[in-house]
Amino acid sequence: MNVNLTYAAEFLPPDSLTARLNALEQAHEKLLLGNGAGGDFTGWVKLPTAYDKEEFARIQAAAQRIREQSQILVVIGIGGSYLGARAVIELLGRAPGAPEICFAGNTLSTDAALELMAKLEGKDFSVNVISKSGTTTEPAVSFRIFKKLLEDKYGKEGARERIYATTDKARGALKTVADREGYETFVVPDEIGGRYSVLTAVGLLPIAAAGIDITALMNGAASEMDALLNHPGAENPAWQYAAARHALYESGKKVEILACYEPSFRFFSEWWKQLYGESEGKENKGLFPASVEFTADLHSMGQYIQEGERILLETVVRFDKSLGELTIPSDPDDLDGLNFLAGKSLDFVNDQAMTGTRLAHVDGGVPNVLLTLPRRDTDSVGRMIYFFEFVCGLSGYLLEVNPFDQPGVEAYKVNMFALLGKPGYEARREELKNRL
Ligand code: PA5
Repeated sequence: MNVNLTYAAEFLPPDSLTARLNALEQAHEKLLLGNGAGGDFTGWVKLPTAYDKEEFARIQAAAQRIREQSQILVVIGIGGSYLGARAVIELLGRAPGAPEICFAGNTLSTDAALELMAKLEGKDFSVNVISKSGTTTEPAVSFRIFKKLLEDKYGKEGARERIYATTDKARGALKTVADREGYETFVVPDEIGGRYSVLTAVGLLPIAAAGIDITALMNGAASEMDALLNHPGAENPAWQYAAARHALYESGKKVEILACYEPSFRFFSEWWKQLYGESEGKENKGLFPASVEFTADLHSMGQYIQEGERILLETVVRFDKSLGELTIPSDPDDLDGLNFLAGKSLDFVNDQAMTGTRLAHVDGGVPNVLLTLPRRDTDSVGRMIYFFEFVCGLSGYLLEVNPFDQPGVEAYKVNMFALLGKPGYEARREELKNRL
């Protein structure tokens, strides 16, 4: 990943990197050795080369079977158990002829479930249910619904051949069900938390089912791992970006906006928001991760970014080259006055929009970081996943929080279970009663 801090420089103290070199060195070592806060969950650090090759081959075989058997794969999961797969599939696009990948279990919406059920009518489909804990309410409820649909359509035996469970290797309700019913299972490793799990079976099975080359994805991540993990120091792009965002946070910036000029990047931003939100947002600290899709959102969020509260920093992800080429045609009447663009590539126009916007935002008091990758391909996406994960780990340690836990996620669950009448939550239900 190429990190360009030119348009952030005027907002950064000159020693923003040097003042943090010691802290970064310690953070880097904690990630490498797994001996910092939450160190038991740093299995992702060496994953791009240290993954389970036997399981990887099983993932590819299962993906092949799904592609042969199904027009749609329903991926059931929430948070870290679905965002990574969706991010990669939407960013890279599924291969021609690959099944459509639909996502469920990330909402409790009746209408969303009914719409997907209607879409599945008359189609062959399989299900990949993903839950590390195996007990999360949204995917568990959704799995009941889609498992029944499969069993009604193919019978219990036929359904068994179409259900793939990705969960803990030994614990949890999903593991119990999968073992009892004889589903093919894949493992969410103990030492990798949900939001860092996209390069495990959690992300890889749906990504491979979409016809995306997961070997190339892992190779991209491995190249980035080599560039970052084996080269600590001031030249390390992850150190530079982590130091800059931490310095900006300390200078009063409270929101980091991730921007991209590719609409297919939308779910990558969602993945990034979870990664940073859950890793940094604790103990009343952390940049709030937000995202925008440019140029579309320049016509909605652009006003706030330019002139609203000056608490923002902006990070732009740019792909050097588009996958194709498009030239703006000439128009004999030129009624829109755009013939000065005739013959220019759409890439050129998009690039000028980006540079103009970055400069305008800098002039408006929003520091701007530019992250550049060569192309929107599997290699770049693998690199980007690893880069953002590594920066996130470093950033958590710079903030002096545990980047690998998420204690705050439990609060809503306790209230929801109390209100739903789950046994064991009676006391909380009493407490909530007079607030309803
Ligand atoms: O990052 C995390 O740990 C969470 O977002 C989880 O991925 C999410 O809550 C889903 O959990 P599970 O996979 O246990 O169903």
